[in-house]
Amino acid sequence: MNVDKIRKDFPMFKNYQTKDKKPIVYLDNAATTFKPYSVIEAMDEYYLCGTANAHRGDYDLAYSVDLKYEAARETVKDFINAKRKEEICFTSGTSMSINIIAYGLAELLNEGDEIILSEAEHASNVLPWFSVAKRRGCKIVYAPLDKKRGIVTLENLASVITNKTKVVSLAQVTNVLGGLNDSKALAKLTHSYNAYFVLDGAQSVPHIKVDVADIDCDFLAFSAHKMCGPTGVGVLYGKYELLDKIPPLLSGGGMNTRFETCGNILLQKPPLKFEAGTQNIAGVYGLAAAIKYIESIGMDKINEYESFLHKRLIDGLSKLDNIIIYNPNSTTGIVTFNIKDVFAQDAATFLSSKGIAVRSGQHCAKILMDYLKTSATVRASTYFYNTVSDIDALIKECENGGDFLDAYFA
Ligand code: ALA
Repeated sequence: MNVDKIRKDFPMFKNYQTKDKKPIVYLDNAATTFKPYSVIEAMDEYYLCGTANAHRGDYDLAYSVDLKYEAARETVKDFINAKRKEEICFTSGTSMSINIIAYGLAELLNEGDEIILSEAEHASNVLPWFSVAKRRGCKIVYAPLDKKRGIVTLENLASVITNKTKVVSLAQVTNVLGGLNDSKALAKLTHSYNAYFVLDGAQSVPHIKVDVADIDCDFLAFSAHKMCGPTGVGVLYGKYELLDKIPPLLSGGGMNTRFETCGNILLQKPPLKFEAGTQNIAGVYGLAAAIKYIESIGMDKINEYESFLHKRLIDGLSKLDNIIIYNPNSTTGIVTFNIKDVFAQDAATFLSSKGIAVRSGQHCAKILMDYLKTSATVRASTYFYNTVSDIDALIKECENGGDFLDAYFA
């Protein structure tokens, strides 16, 4: 993979400089990614020469927007190998997608039903289910995490799933521990109990080939902005018959075919049923362009290169006595660590002073801290545009890190 060439596609590497007048060492890709020109241009095209609403106008310009908007849906459908484009709903991102799923599935749940999560889930895959549990009298059950990789294994799920389980909702890759679970096997076990399998793909879809037909998940949620696309747009995939069955979270224009004074509402069929109000049309174009961009590099190549960077980072940090790595056996580009005796936020601030961007804190996975036995961590997360020298720069700065606070104030 020609990373130097790839980096030229990303204006951030040219236009943003650290205070030392250098390009940033950006290792916060699990939070969001940089965008290539092609994504920015696709969105500009909508604003500069193609602005009209989608699915509302009867003039040529509006029709051309309808076509492009639906072509983007087709692009997403092919990308995740859904059966039909009507299984792809555009949302504002993973959080909204999971909220829609949880709200909709709540209608199919009863008091005493159980919802299985794990303690490594992001807030977006916990809080919507807390709300369902409260409303419907359901119980939240946590599948234990495997001690070595921090994932929910088949055995872990088998140890908690029962006939009361109605939903299993897990991240394919969690945002702090970064382990890849065997979603296909977990979905199979879940279905053998007649429960629904919901997959949070926010941290997996940008990095590995995710095939919903192969996994056989009932729902999948992911965001554009973690895969070179714009913020404020994401995807809710659902099996058509389930999307057809569950009620929409949001009501408004575009999601109904008629309503009457007495309160009767006739809903659109999926996906429009879930797309109330004017959508982020430019964002949808940007998402399609992002998919085309990462596919032009190749998901296999992205995965292979990220594994190489990950190994280099783990190997480098493992050699340092002053570093505690919390997920040494993870398989994706997320490495979570602390510098001994240094508060995570101080470490991140110090690294920032060296031109390196990482995230610190609890990373929205607040119930994970008991498993990690620490109150905060530093997280470095790579993407395919990171270089070997990015990784080496982080290792080098961590090497001096026993006394980071002193170093920072020196
Ligand atoms: N979900 C994003 C993260 O993990 C924001 O950083």
